[in-house]
Amino acid sequence: MEWLRNPIDQTNPLKPVWTFDQIPDLSGKVIIVTGGNAEIGKESVQALLAHNATVYVASRSEEHAQSAIAELKEATGKEPIFLRLDLGNLSHIRKAAEEFLSKEKQLRVLMNNAGVMYPPTDQVTDGNFYMPFGTNVIAPEAANLNGQYLKPWARLGKAVPSTQDPEVAAKLRAWLEAAVAGK
Ligand SMILES: NC(=O)c1ccc[n+]([C@@H]2O[C@H](COP(=O)([O-])OP(=O)(O)OC[C@H]3O[C@@H](n4cnc5c(N)ncnc54)[C@H](OP(=O)(O)O)[C@@H]3O)[C@@H](O)[C@H]2O)c1
Repeated sequence: MEWLRNPIDQTNPLKPVWTFDQIPDLSGKVIIVTGGNAEIGKESVQALLAHNATVYVASRSEEHAQSAIAELKEATGKEPIFLRLDLGNLSHIRKAAEEFLSKEKQLRVLMNNAGVMYPPTDQVTDGNFYMPFGTNVIAPEAANLNGQYLKPWARLGKAVPSTQDPEVAAKLRAWLEAAVAGK
């Protein structure tokens, strides 16, 4: 019966306990949303712009991105910035990182939203990985190849001290475990 329950649950989602209105003021904060041109990514960009963040829409298609940027500008009165990024090609990731670094000094948040779900099994990235694995797993973790691409965007300059504090890390872990356990 799981096949029947799922669509029913999906059409009756739980009431959210946290909403966009609770996002604090993000003035001066630079954020990249990968796949910010569509659906969840675009909604995220809109919410971030509405709270004054500087947002980069990182997309493989300039046409898709510019069309989303026009809509987002219309909706919020603020204009996100296009960043060309194809997660299917690791050298494009490096180029995108360089492009970003030529414009900004600090990245506060990298939203690894872009991804693909279930394409035919013969679809592969330029690196010859199955498309979802190459796009969703390898590309965001390209930093593990090591340390040159996506993640250093977030680490440019000194890390915020709280990110390196073992006490904060232990509290976060405890919070996560409690949340998973439903406490
Ligand atoms: N919606 C769901 O129910 C659901 C469930 C589980 C997980 N997710 C994940 O949540 C994320 C957002 O979902 P969504 O429904 O908003 O997805 P979506 O409508 O399919 O949008 C995916 C975005 O990722 C971009 N993208 C795909 N491959 C890329 C690549 N190689 N380089 C750069 N950008 C690439 C797409 O760009 P183009 O416009 O150029 O295609 C698009 O902007 C995805 O990672 C998805 O897998 C979604």
